[in-house]
Amino acid sequence: MLRISGVTKTYPNGVRALHCIDLTIERGLFGLLGPNGAGKSTLMRILATLQEPDAGQLTFDGADVLADPRAHRQRLGYLPQDFGVYPGVSAVELLDHLAVLKGLTNRRQRAEQVDALLHQTNLHAHRKKAVSGFSGGMRQRFGIAQALLGDPRMLIVDEPTAGLDPEERNRFHNLLAEVGENVVVLLSTHIVEDVRHLCPRMAILSEGRVLREGAPETLVAELAGRVWRKTVEKHEVARHRESLAVLSTQLSGRRTVLRVLSEGPPGPGFDVVAPDLEDVYFAALLQR
Ligand SMILES: Nc1ncnc2c1ncn2[C@@H]1O[C@H](COP(=O)(O)OP(=O)(O)OP(=O)(O)O)[C@@H](O)[C@H]1O
Ligand SMILES: [Mg+2]
Repeated sequence: MLRISGVTKTYPNGVRALHCIDLTIERGLFGLLGPNGAGKSTLMRILATLQEPDAGQLTFDGADVLADPRAHRQRLGYLPQDFGVYPGVSAVELLDHLAVLKGLTNRRQRAEQVDALLHQTNLHAHRKKAVSGFSGGMRQRFGIAQALLGDPRMLIVDEPTAGLDPEERNRFHNLLAEVGENVVVLLSTHIVEDVRHLCPRMAILSEGRVLREGAPETLVAELAGRVWRKTVEKHEVARHRESLAVLSTQLSGRRTVLRVLSEGPPGPGFDVVAPDLEDVYFAALLQR
């Protein structure tokens, strides 16, 4: 179990990236959902001990992470948002090289683990190809393979699905779900779809603060009876935005479907609808 308490970070240029973050994260997948600049990567770099917080504490399975970052790194796998690879090096060579860096010195054990991870991430058939030539989805699966070297107990993956097509995203979700059966997996994303079916627990982060936290279905249930929908002409959208808490707008042919947060009927022509996780996300961002 990972316990984050009071974690705060201000960059030297004055940007307050994290304000007193408190989160408790159990085994399985935890989704950290937030828009650009929310502080997701800052938090993940701190959890990976690549950056120190100004204040706060981190414990993992009772151990003080900040007091002994080296020991924490032994338990950790990390896929950064901007995962770079050396050009021209094949998947199997690169994975073997990274395994050495991770301290897997026994050649035979290393070869076995590299082979197993290439199978697990469905890259075995491509193991002799250069990772720099991989498609986005293959590259991210390779990123998971390298993060899993050394059997980490905690896996941090920073926006791994950005830019993947639906099929690859789905494949990546399945891979994470499988990994999440055994270890703590912290997944950051700005894509609601990544969290909806994949993460039993989640938090919404914005401007360095946790706005909501819980199980996706609980957060959705809390909005029951408060999300309203109406289809309007395009020119009416701005007027509705002025007076109502508009969660989202979606084009439907020439018209626009508005979703609005309101304790009671917001006006004529509105129907109450079943809330979804996207409504939870936009409602949280509206209320900040
Ligand atoms: N090294 C840095 N120096 C100064 N400011 C930074 C630095 N890194 C991040 N920031 C700022 O801190 C805030 C949080 O950034 P961070 O990268 O953690 O957000 P994010 O949620 O990961 O965003 P994205 O979805 O775009 O990756 C932003 O305002 C960003 O501009
Ligand atoms: Mg980021």
